[in-house]
Amino acid sequence: MKIPFYARYRSPQDEESLLSCLKGTLATDGPCSKEADRRLAHLYPDSFSFLTSSCSAALETALELCSLKPGDEVILPSYNFPSAANAVLRAGGVPVFCDIDPDTQNISPSDAALKITSRTKVIIPVHYAGVACHMDELSCLAQEAGLTIVEDAAQAIGASCNGYPLGTLGEFGCVSFHYTKNISCGEGGLLLCRSKKTYETARCHRVHGTNRDAFFRGECDRYTWVLPGSSTAASELCAALLLAQLPCLEQITRIRRKRLHDYLLALKPLEQAGYARLMTIPDYAWPNGHIFYLRFADKSLRRHIEELLLKNEIEAKTHYVPLHLSPMGRKLGWCPEDLPESTACYDTLLRLPIHTELTGSHVERIAEIITKGCVS
Ligand SMILES: Cc1ncc(COP(=O)(O)O)c(C=O)c1O
Repeated sequence: MKIPFYARYRSPQDEESLLSCLKGTLATDGPCSKEADRRLAHLYPDSFSFLTSSCSAALETALELCSLKPGDEVILPSYNFPSAANAVLRAGGVPVFCDIDPDTQNISPSDAALKITSRTKVIIPVHYAGVACHMDELSCLAQEAGLTIVEDAAQAIGASCNGYPLGTLGEFGCVSFHYTKNISCGEGGLLLCRSKKTYETARCHRVHGTNRDAFFRGECDRYTWVLPGSSTAASELCAALLLAQLPCLEQITRIRRKRLHDYLLALKPLEQAGYARLMTIPDYAWPNGHIFYLRFADKSLRRHIEELLLKNEIEAKTHYVPLHLSPMGRKLGWCPEDLPESTACYDTLLRLPIHTELTGSHVERIAEIITKGCVS
C-alpha cells in the first residue's frame, strides 16, 4: 500500500464553509477574512496580525517595512526556500547567507554573529520543520547589533519557543497556509507585527498602499495612495477554507507530534549505530510535527534509502537546494564551500511522510525498511 508524502488535512467543514462564502460578494476583507483574522488573533494574542495571499507576500511586506537602504545587509540561512531572499532583494537589500546548526538545520547563531557587519540591518531566522530556532541567542545578537528580527515561521503554525508562538518573537513573523502546511487554504499566509503602528502601515501596504481601512472606518470620504504598496490581501475563498481548518489545528498538531515521536523512537537505534542523525528537538522548542527528517551518514546512503523506500511505494523527499548553491546564489557571488553544513545537509537530508493520515504502524513499516536498508 502506497504511503504518500503529503496528505492535505480535510476538515469536515471545508465544503460547507466554501459554499457559504460563495453566497457573498467575495469582496476583499469580507466576513470570512474578518472572522479568520479574529480567530488568528486569539492564537497570537501578543501580536497584531492579518491574513495575506502567501507567506512570501508577508515576508515581502515585512522587508519593505524594514526601510533598507541600498547596500544594507540581511542575514538569513542558505538552507532555505527562496522567498525570504527574494523579499530582501525586492526591498533593495543584500542577502548574506549563513550556515546552519546540524542538530536542527536552523540558522547557526555563531555563524550569524560572524556575518554581522556595520551594514547589517535585519536577521531572518527560519524555524525549519516547525522546530524553533535558538531565539534567546538570536535576540541577544540582534539587540547588541541593533538588528530587526523577521521570523520566517512558514512551517511553524502551532509550534512555540519557551511557550511563545513562533512568529511572535521578532518585530515581524510570517506564516504559510500553502497546501503543504499543517493547515492550509491552498495558498495563504499571515503577517504578525509586534507594534500596532507597524501593523497599520503594513495594512496600507497590502491594499495597494492606500488608506482603505481609514475610509471604511469613515475617517475620509474616499481612499487614496499614501505609501508604496502592493496587493497582498487573502481572498475571501481562502479565508473561508482557513475558517474550516482552524478549529482542527490542535488535533492536527497532536497527531503530527505523535508521529514525530514515533519516528524518533523507532529510528533511535539507527542513530546509535551511526547510520543517520535524527532531528533534534531542543528543550526550548515545542514542535508541530510539520516535517520529520533524518540526515544520513553520507549521500550514497541517503540515495540508497530514498530508492528503497520508493520501491516499497513510500514517498520520501530531499529538501532545499541551499540558496548559496543555486544558480541565483552563484550569480550573487557565493561558492559551494562557503557554507559547508548547508551543502552537507543538501546531500544527506531525507524527509519522511508525516501527516494526519499516517498511522503508528505506517511509521513502524517505514522504520523497518530504512533499518534493513542501512544494515544490509
Ligand atoms: C521556509 C519557507 N519560507 C517561505 C515559504 C513560502 O511560503 P508560501 O508558499 O506561503 O509563500 C516556504 C514554503 O514552503 C518555506 O518553506
